[in-house]
Amino acid sequence: MSSEPCTFIVFGATGHLARNKLLPAMYHLEEAERIPDKTSIIGFTRQALDDDSWNDQVNEILTARARDGLKDNVLANLRARMHMLSGDMTDAESLKKLKEYIDSNESISNNLIFYMAIPPSLYARVTQALHDAGLSDENGGWRRIVIEKPFGYDTESAMILNESLHKHFSENQIFRIDHYLGKSMVQNVLVFRFANLMLEPIWNRNHIDHIQITHSESQGIADRAAYYDDAGALRDMLQSHLLQMLTLVAMEPPASLDAESLRDEKVKVLKSIRPITRRSVNAHAYRAQYATGNINGESVPGYLSEQNIPADSITETYASLKLYIDNWRWRNVPFYLRTGKRMAKNSSVISIRFKHPPQQLFRQTQIEQLEPNWIVLAIQPSECLRMELQVKKPGLEMDAHTTQLDASYCATGSTQLDAYEALLLDVIENDCSLFLRYDEIHHAWETVDPVLKAWDTQQDYIHTYPAGSWGPDDSKLFDRDDQVWRNEIDS
Ligand code: BG6
Repeated sequence: MSSEPCTFIVFGATGHLARNKLLPAMYHLEEAERIPDKTSIIGFTRQALDDDSWNDQVNEILTARARDGLKDNVLANLRARMHMLSGDMTDAESLKKLKEYIDSNESISNNLIFYMAIPPSLYARVTQALHDAGLSDENGGWRRIVIEKPFGYDTESAMILNESLHKHFSENQIFRIDHYLGKSMVQNVLVFRFANLMLEPIWNRNHIDHIQITHSESQGIADRAAYYDDAGALRDMLQSHLLQMLTLVAMEPPASLDAESLRDEKVKVLKSIRPITRRSVNAHAYRAQYATGNINGESVPGYLSEQNIPADSITETYASLKLYIDNWRWRNVPFYLRTGKRMAKNSSVISIRFKHPPQQLFRQTQIEQLEPNWIVLAIQPSECLRMELQVKKPGLEMDAHTTQLDASYCATGSTQLDAYEALLLDVIENDCSLFLRYDEIHHAWETVDPVLKAWDTQQDYIHTYPAGSWGPDDSKLFDRDDQVWRNEIDS
């Protein structure tokens, strides 16, 4: 892996993503001494900012987000790398000035990483302007471009965006980020599955009843109204992060851990998802919007009362899907996926429910109903890997209860590394295994497209759920009555 000096050019440096994720990640990498020497960070924004006011902002952001408190020496080292420039990033003339700045400053490396922390609608224009300004040519240094999700708005727009990126950048220069793949517990799904021989024989349709993937958030849409009202929960979370988690749970063992082998297996899963037909959308998908409610004892407004949201918006803040993967391993095992804002808790969990044993051996005992086994992989807020088994209750009676085998780090307080730290380092080191290849995105869009299209035509009504609840009643998605959402890690 190369760790040459480079220059991070962050477009949209004062925006939500850069402030909340990128800047803290850079700080923590600086603290861990993982940023190569002579690496610079150029923040590029539309709004003109003088150094003093930017420094104040950096201070404020990092004071709130530095994991172990803000350290003066780390901050000083980070600041020494940072430059702020302003201009219009869609305009080649502005970007020529950026090029001149880089070319005329000997301490700034000519290996350039362009980070698009900007609205997706600008990606194509900024890429074109980079080319017109001569910044895409690999003259005297390499070029990489990091694209945030959502990559496109549907299958067709993703295709168009991809074509426009490929006019000036080749596939190995494009890093399509899905920050969920940088989360250590998400990567742990691979280790758990493929480093433990005992799991493989049971990881299939013969033993697994169904799989649930839940991402719930208690936050609302914060200051992202413009983006969110256009996107909605299905595009924002489900098409990307949740489908990526599904691929890792469902994929076959890759031939090796190199980027292409991993992505090949993920693509096979996505291609095997049974298409949702227009007619079956209502049986496979559910959407709803949060209404006013209570979070942590405080009353919060409904989605329609959030700032800058049109009063008649029918954008979904909750989306759930039932999917089937038509291959030998998974045929007829339902995968239930759901995500929502303003739900009861912040939690991302993959829950795997096993089938009941075939024989009712304990029918004549006090054990009237055996609970099924579960494997629970909790991704956040704390990481956890738990197996639930049935054991006999102590005492004379033949009775059973559920016990849990927990991996030792199943506890709050384990160090939470932010996914962005790992992923930024991967871009610097040119490791694209945790980034998405275009075909993954394409097939993920194909999976959700029929639902998006159907919802587009149903503009007159959307269900609601009270803020602070576990979402709407979408139980009609489940195949059987004994399948229900598992809300808590503890059963
Ligand atoms: C982003 C979505 O990709 O992921 C946000 O746009 C969402 O709406 C966020 O809140 C969740 O990420 P995390 O890492 O906080 O779980």
